[in-house]
This record gives sequence, structure tokens and C-alpha cells, in this order.
Amino acid sequence: MTEPLKIAGFEIFKAQLNVKEQAAMVADLRAVVRTAPMRHPVTRSGKQMSVKMTSAGRLGWISDRRGYRYEAQHPDGMDWPAIPESLLRLWQNITNLERQPDCCLINFYGEGARMGLHQDNDEGDFSFPVLSVSLGDEGLFRMGGTERGGKTQSVWLSSGDVVVMGGAARLAYHGVDRIRFGSSSLLPDGGRINITLRVVSEAV
Ligand code: SIN
Ligand code: MN
Repeated sequence: MTEPLKIAGFEIFKAQLNVKEQAAMVADLRAVVRTAPMRHPVTRSGKQMSVKMTSAGRLGWISDRRGYRYEAQHPDGMDWPAIPESLLRLWQNITNLERQPDCCLINFYGEGARMGLHQDNDEGDFSFPVLSVSLGDEGLFRMGGTERGGKTQSVWLSSGDVVVMGGAARLAYHGVDRIRFGSSSLLPDGGRINITLRVVSEAV
């Protein structure tokens, strides 16, 4: 495995997945979405997020008027589908951990979608990394430190790139300022998919 690029504690594995692997992963995700449809979540204030989301795994990440949390069921009442093998294999290859992720959060960025700077801090155990996979259009990923308002650096993430947020970067602020809609031909209708694998542990 090639050495990752390290920026502010974030480990960036460029082109970790080849085009065939990316296409196979998209097919796996389409199967997840058929069982657990994507939704535009709202925040506590009632504002609709620009990304659409769904999850796979024992737990899924939810946002609604009651706030952010993990839930064992999709808002429509069904269990989340299993995390696809392709993603569990990638988790194993990159992290070498025996512990499997509890949640595979799938975010879809259509034209104009973005995600503000935030920390991933709804989990019960921060000793495990969060692993992120980018598929489809390029996204401008912004990385900061653990304090809100600190210095940030940005990198364009392309289809097949993998980012590990662990150690000092586990609770670092991050977000996506914008995507280059139509920059990739992986998804016929354009857009960017980001998948994050998370160990949630005893939070629920
Ligand atoms: C996230 O922070 O959940 C998504 C990050 C990304 O889209 O690259
Ligand atoms: Mn995040």
C-alpha cells in the first residue's frame, strides 16, 4: 500500500480504489439504497441539509428535529441493511482492526450540495478511526483542528480516494465546501457519494 498524504493528522490515500472497484462499490450501494432509501435530513432548527443520506450496518446516523444520533432503524421503520462486504474489506485492509464498524453512513452530494465544518462526535468511543471513501465527482474537503475557528487546509478528493480520520484528527473539524458537478463519469447522472465507516460502540 502506498504511503498516505498526511495533512493536519488526516491520512489521505489517493486513488485507493480503481475504476472497477469503484463501480462495484456503487452497485453495492445501490442495493443498500433500494432497501433503505436516501432522505434529505433536517437539523434541529428545521433546516434541510443539502446532502441526502442513508446508512447500512447495526446503526444508522440520523438527524431530525430532535437532533443528531444513531438509531437501529431507518426513519421508515426497517432495519438498516448490512454493510457491503466491499466496504468491510476496505476497512480491514486500511485499518487492520478486528473490530468492525457499526455504521456505514452514505452521503450523496447533488449539484450545489455541501457540508459545513463539523466534528464527528456522536459516537461513544473515539479511539477508533473514521474511514471515508469518495466516489463520483470531486469534492473540496476542508480540514481543521479540534477547535472551532482554527486554521484549515483543503484538498480536492477524487473518486476512489480514501481518508482516515484517526488519532489527533479523529475529532478534527472537517467539511465539504463544494463539489465539481459532472467532473467524474462514474455516476451517470453526476454527483458525489461519500461513505464513512464508524465504530459507534456503547453510544446507544
Ligand atoms: C462527512 O463528514 O460525513 C462527509 C465528508 C465528505 O463528504 O467527504
Ligand atoms: Mn463528518
